[in-house]
Amino acid sequence: MADPSPADLVQAAARAAEAAHAPYSRYQVGAALLTDDGHLFTGCNVENASYGLTNCAERTAVFTAVAAGHTRFRAVAIVARGESIPYPCGACRQVLAEFCPPDCPVYVARQEDLDTIETSTLAELLPKTFRF
Ligand code: THU
Repeated sequence: MADPSPADLVQAAARAAEAAHAPYSRYQVGAALLTDDGHLFTGCNVENASYGLTNCAERTAVFTAVAAGHTRFRAVAIVARGESIPYPCGACRQVLAEFCPPDCPVYVARQEDLDTIETSTLAELLPKTFRF
């Protein structure tokens, strides 16, 4: 079967955002990951009354995929509702860099305008990635 398109990944991320547990910020985020071998994993943000325990959508997707045995990703999509474009936070960029090549495309769109997709590479979003 053909690879999902950027628009397909964005749609999957948008659907994933519907499961967000975001009673505190009311900001629902969804993420979708395409693995090297063509599997799709999604995640949403999961907030907690102890705010600092919140997990971002991107990390939910990464941890779900890794727990299922998939550790190499070749595309990422992120969607959230609101006026600003939902670029991944710094922590999620670092976590993605563990499992994605530097040229991995990161597609980002607003839930209200899923047809407008911004594309960056992970290296653009996180130059000089921490590694040891
Ligand atoms: N959030 C994400 O899910 N991904 C990001 O990259 C940044 C922020 C979530 C965390 C929290 O539930 C809400 O957005 C507001 O910060």
